[in-house]
Amino acid sequence: MELRLPALHEETEFRRAVAAVPADNPTFLHFHRPGMTLADYLDALREQVLGIDPAPGREVASTFLFAFVDGRIVGRASIRHTLEHPAGQMTGHIGYAVLPESRGRGHATEILRLAIRHAREHLGISRVLVTCDPGNAASVRVIEKNGGVFEDQRHDAETGMRKRRYWIDALPYD
Ligand SMILES: CC(C)(COP(=O)(O)OP(=O)(O)OC[C@H]1O[C@@H](n2cnc3c(N)ncnc32)[C@H](O)[C@@H]1OP(=O)(O)O)[C@@H](O)C(=O)NCCC(=O)NCCS
Repeated sequence: MELRLPALHEETEFRRAVAAVPADNPTFLHFHRPGMTLADYLDALREQVLGIDPAPGREVASTFLFAFVDGRIVGRASIRHTLEHPAGQMTGHIGYAVLPESRGRGHATEILRLAIRHAREHLGISRVLVTCDPGNAASVRVIEKNGGVFEDQRHDAETGMRKRRYWIDALPYD
């Protein structure tokens, strides 16, 4: 598996993945608007990496990467560069999702492993916060399999959001 952005010549694969975005995760593609070409979308993602006009609800710079296996997009990761905005304490540093057709094959576990490595090597993050909904048993397993240490479960009264929060040391060997 590779975590990376699509190259411009991979527009067809990008469009296939956009069409496969599931109804249970309409936010699979962050910062994507209908009708965007791949080139437009890559520009939007670069702006988010630089923290230019961060998207509402995110508020800090972030990196969005696709998970490719044998040239096909199977999922994605998003990495919040800092937790300095209060929302970060609920969303954590890293989010991930796998397209429905590719679930149940260990891809999310590998996406989180590679995203932690990216966070350490490219963003200097040594301790990663990862959170998930209490009822998301698959995501709890993904976090545990990556060495997540449970800290607490928090409830945000304003949004109604509940999250289990885990810390993972981003070690230089993994
Ligand atoms: C959660 C999600 C990322 C899991 O992706 P995946 O690629 O199927 O996960 P993996 O194949 O790596 O499986 C991880 C573990 O979860 C287990 N698992 C998978 N589906 C499960 C389910 N419905 N209930 C309980 N455990 C489940 C797997 O058995 C595996 O554990 P094991 O190795 O001990 O057998 C995927 O379902 C998804 O994209 N959901 C929507 C978005 C989302 O919830 N993202 C996470 C936000 S925190």
